[in-house]
Amino acid sequence: MARIPIAAGNWKMNGTNAEARALCRGLAGIEAIAGVDVVLSPSFTQLPLVWDFWCGTEVHIAGQNMHTQPSGAYTGEVSPVQLAEVADWVILGHSERRQFFCEDDQALALKLRAAEAHGLTPILCVGESEAERENRRTNAVLSRQVGVALGDDPAPAGLVIAYEPVWAIGTGQAATPDEAESACAHIRSVAADKLGSDVADGVRILYGGSVNAGNIADFMAQPDIDGALVGGASLKPDDFLAITRAIAAS
Ligand code: PGA
Repeated sequence: MARIPIAAGNWKMNGTNAEARALCRGLAGIEAIAGVDVVLSPSFTQLPLVWDFWCGTEVHIAGQNMHTQPSGAYTGEVSPVQLAEVADWVILGHSERRQFFCEDDQALALKLRAAEAHGLTPILCVGESEAERENRRTNAVLSRQVGVALGDDPAPAGLVIAYEPVWAIGTGQAATPDEAESACAHIRSVAADKLGSDVADGVRILYGGSVNAGNIADFMAQPDIDGALVGGASLKPDDFLAITRAIAAS
């Protein structure tokens, strides 16, 4: 099945509003690159201006997290209803949220359902830690993370899964294309067990972890890798444009 590839930029907790606006200006033309879905994920305070900036284009805007409930006494949280006013996608379960904010697989199962209920396309992040990798637990960890998050329900509409080995994030030490392909193929097989192979064939699976303009083409040459979730390099407009062009050309 032909899957449209994705170039997703995770800006994390970086930049002022002025810097976010400058980054958007620096990305001018990205909306015209054919054959790729572009997703930008600024922090909550930048979302309204980034949403307005790309309004009327094909560029998608993602939150970096959200709560499950539509409203209520959850100080400091952002609800899916609120997020859907300024975003159409959402990143869920990034390893930094799992590591620093105790997000677990059960919570992510609920967040996936909440995203679907509010029309937000989810990017579910999974990936093993360095210790898990050394203990050869990568596939077991991915099976658990994907299996529990998907539960026994049908797939959320447009489901995207990002394979992001924790040891590769922000380290400059990307997985090899073979390692990434093996993990992404495993994720697709877990999705097939849960959702059936027809649905799993349509799930887009991204690689993330020290992606840059120099290594993206080798990842895109792999059959089960449908794009990238990019952190550091997405803050440099020329780099993210080059990555997006390489993804589109794959
Ligand atoms: P990185 O981050 O590209 O800086 O390694 C990826 C991510 O955390 O999504």
